[in-house]
Amino acid sequence: MKVLVVGGGGREHAILRKLKENPEVTELFAAPGNGGIGYDAVRVPIPATDVEGIARWASLEGMDYVVVAPDDPLAMGLVDRLTDKGIPAFGPTAAAARIEASKAFSKDLMKKYHIPTAEYETFTEVSAAREYLTRNQRWPIVVKADGLALGKGVLICRSREEALEAVEEMMVGGRFGASGNTVVIEEFLTGPEVSVLSFTDGRTLVPMVSSMDHKRALDGDRGLNTGGMGAIAPNPYYTPGIARVCMETIFLPTMEAMNAEGRTFRGCLYFGLMLTPDGPKVIEYNCRFGDPETQVVLPLLETDLFTVMRAVTEGSLRTVDVTFSHRSAACVVLASGGYPEHYEKGKVITGLVNGQLPESDAVVYHAGTALREGELVTAGGRVLGVTALGDTLEQAVENAYRAADGISFEGMHRRGDIGARALAAGK
Ligand code: AMP
Ligand code: GLY
Repeated sequence: MKVLVVGGGGREHAILRKLKENPEVTELFAAPGNGGIGYDAVRVPIPATDVEGIARWASLEGMDYVVVAPDDPLAMGLVDRLTDKGIPAFGPTAAAARIEASKAFSKDLMKKYHIPTAEYETFTEVSAAREYLTRNQRWPIVVKADGLALGKGVLICRSREEALEAVEEMMVGGRFGASGNTVVIEEFLTGPEVSVLSFTDGRTLVPMVSSMDHKRALDGDRGLNTGGMGAIAPNPYYTPGIARVCMETIFLPTMEAMNAEGRTFRGCLYFGLMLTPDGPKVIEYNCRFGDPETQVVLPLLETDLFTVMRAVTEGSLRTVDVTFSHRSAACVVLASGGYPEHYEKGKVITGLVNGQLPESDAVVYHAGTALREGELVTAGGRVLGVTALGDTLEQAVENAYRAADGISFEGMHRRGDIGARALAAGK
């Protein structure tokens, strides 16, 4: 079987390495992949957003299956194009990807189908947004750009002045481009955050092991929001009782809501949840695997990933017994100094042989690396993710940090407290 994975980050590397475990998958390709992914798959130099280019190449080269991992090509309809060409693909159609691509759409969906989420209003006119903020008395408040903004289109505003400024920047200043033409202003929720990825074919929904992202750049959840500085799984806040409530009030109702809207979702549906004092609520949906959650969730998956993915595409997920290990996983991200703002690239990475740590059980997922004359160098903000397992979360975290200690590059930045909040919760 020839399988193509679209995308080029740590998440895609984790998917590729899991697919590789199936002996039927004889040829693996990544478009565009990255330097380190090149050790596990043949790289195809087509950007993930070149929908036509990828569909044409996949057809020409006779791909048997394609996994579309990032949000942009999903929202642009890459799965629809592949399906048109008769190539089975993992991921939602553009119509279903709207659950992530438009916050206004997802908020309206939740309201219509009584799925718990923060109270909100949607604005397409800046004057109406200003007026709403002038009347509002409860702070902080959350201002969100409607469209895809690399997870950066969310501003938590502590005062009216901050909120007015945020609305001005998004709706007038064009800070997030067209994504900010429409904004959602919503109630500020509190509580621990949990990520739950799920497999669904529109009839059956199987939640994966829960996880926790670490979005801020610095220890103690300080600093700017990033694409994610590390993750752990399972998330100790997500008890079996809470899992049952989520299945009944959020997961299955969302699957059914998408069916009722004629936008059946097939793929990985990601639930970003907040466990508020009033119960679990949806903070966001993603139409894809989360990054870096995938780097801790997939290593715990015991069932063959390729089998699960094909069942999702074929609508036979019910027939597959999807199981996860009861161990724990931790992923520590090694980033370029200065990320998520300005950072330099091209720094030589030491400690790896063929992209992995020699004599270590930990796995290194490549996010932003390139090969320069046979040498691995940094090529992005998030460079590597080091994932280790353990019988307990504490051991997994310790193993991940011990492994990460073996890698260095100039200016390297990592958080020192991945898993600390989860470990405190478990005590
Ligand atoms: P999002 O891109 O929607 O996941 O938002 C990014 C982050 O902003 C989330 O992970 C939360 O930490 C925070 N956030 C988003 N919406 C809210 C909310 N209504 N209340 C509190 N925090 C929020
Ligand atoms: N980790 C959050 C995301 O993938 O959007």
